[in-house]
Amino acid sequence: MKNINIAIDGPAGAGKSTIAKMVSAKLGFIYVDTGALYRAAALFITENNVADEDIEKALAGADISLGFVDGVQKVFIGDRDVSGLIRTPEISMAASRTSAIPAVRAYLFDTQQKIAAENNVIMDGRDIGTVVLPNADVKIFLTASAEERANRRFKELSEKPDCPCYEEVLSDIIERDKNDMERPVSPLRRAEDAVLVDSTTLTLEESADAIISIIREKTDVQ
Ligand code: DC
Repeated sequence: MKNINIAIDGPAGAGKSTIAKMVSAKLGFIYVDTGALYRAAALFITENNVADEDIEKALAGADISLGFVDGVQKVFIGDRDVSGLIRTPEISMAASRTSAIPAVRAYLFDTQQKIAAENNVIMDGRDIGTVVLPNADVKIFLTASAEERANRRFKELSEKPDCPCYEEVLSDIIERDKNDMERPVSPLRRAEDAVLVDSTTLTLEESADAIISIIREKTDVQ
């Protein structure tokens, strides 16, 4: 039987990964966070000081992959687990820049398609419904206002030492939105057939419930 593929796209901080994890757990699907692949590519490029013109060649030997341990996604460079190292503001900004480079997108395209072909997946990213899985069974565009997204990120970060101030978090979000939406290759945009879910005034549970209802409506999944 053909696997079921659900695409969730949207800007940074809309709650995609938390909500997609909740929905996947409920439906028994594998959750794939494609941002982690772009972050790992950015980490590889940063650590090895790879110049933009050398990226295609360097990535060919990078061996970036996803693994699942007890249903939890891990990202690897070779056999090194970099799942923690990719979650810094520096790598967020580096990934936003390097993900606009065609060689980076081309390198990660096959990895994403292969996982979706082999599993029932909920895959989140920026171009899943438009480019990676244009024939996905369900497409969701999950968004929220920039201020609300900055609020959420600020609360997460304020638990850590040396957290940036709210204005810094908001301007980072606005800059990343601009990078993601204005890049010429695979920009962030809503696919024509994607259902819009605005989580600005919704709790995580309400957003997850809204998405589960859409999936049940559009597929045989119960
Ligand atoms: O979702 P995230 O913040 O972890 O993503 C990190 C960066 O990777 C983000 O700036 C956009 C980019 N990205 C992308 O271009 N395409 C995807 N499918 C996923 C992420």
